[in-house]
Amino acid sequence: MSGAPWYFDCDTGIDDALTLGLLVAEGADLKGIGSVSGNLSAAGGARNTLDLMALMGRPDVPVAVGAHDPIGGVFGGGAEFVHGANGIGEVELPHVGEPVAESAAAMLVRLAHEHPGTLRVLAVGPLTNLALALELEPELPSLVADVVIMGGAALVPGNVSAVAEANIWNDPIAAQAVFDAAWPVTMVGLDVTMLARFEESHRTELAAGGAAPAALAAMLDVYFQYYTPILGRPSCALHDPLAAAIALGVVVPTLAPVAPVEVDTTDGPGRGQTLVDLRGRFVGYPAQPDVRHTVPLEIAEGFGDRLLESLLRLP
Ligand code: BDR
Ligand code: CA
Repeated sequence: MSGAPWYFDCDTGIDDALTLGLLVAEGADLKGIGSVSGNLSAAGGARNTLDLMALMGRPDVPVAVGAHDPIGGVFGGGAEFVHGANGIGEVELPHVGEPVAESAAAMLVRLAHEHPGTLRVLAVGPLTNLALALELEPELPSLVADVVIMGGAALVPGNVSAVAEANIWNDPIAAQAVFDAAWPVTMVGLDVTMLARFEESHRTELAAGGAAPAALAAMLDVYFQYYTPILGRPSCALHDPLAAAIALGVVVPTLAPVAPVEVDTTDGPGRGQTLVDLRGRFVGYPAQPDVRHTVPLEIAEGFGDRLLESLLRLP
């Protein structure tokens, strides 16, 4: 568990919902949560976040609605075929609370000033809010301890195109701004998140837990339907939860080189690709003191079991 203050940015989303569960179960000191359009609209993501946080016993954490449209573009409509029309697998939760008045970007800037040098940022949706916050406060990188994102792919295929991962593809310009900024960024991409899995046995055990675990298990029906043909058996990838676990230190990658990352911001076939310079591979990734990007490439097996153990602690 990390005692640091956290800002969490998400597009809630079934695997985002599991991540809220992990953060709550692990006792992360959440100072605020921002939503962004991705899996569904930013407004819908904030609604899901509020309802889930109430279900998990944390209605006190402020939730801000973030950017609806990507930088320089228009929101394309979400990923209903992955997460269901309401983003959480058609599970209906009681509506609890309302978002705060400030934007997600303004919330991030405020929290960075309130916790200078210690605020940790975890972002598991498109990076629009982070890019907007960098515009609002150019000193932001010096105020934030570090940024961990779920996004990108270094040595493996993409999931929305041959080369692009969804969060980066949804707002490549914002992603490039986040990689350009002078803060440490850990890119938890498909290289490792596709290795992190929930199997049918995990879902069954989760369904037998309390109200929050049972609701999360019900959401997984839709997510499993999407992933079963991709993975070859009833199961799903645990993208966002793995990013949170790495940020929290619950999972320590077994290989995570420091390597510069650039994003393809064109509208061609490479749109949204993360270009990770891994040329140090054959000499053991020598230290690169001026590079701020870390890219986990390998993890040990067993994250599904560890996530289940945490989620079953929820009410
Ligand atoms: C990412 O895209 C979204 O659908 C998931 O929530 C995750 O953040 C995986 O590519
Ligand atoms: Ca997400």
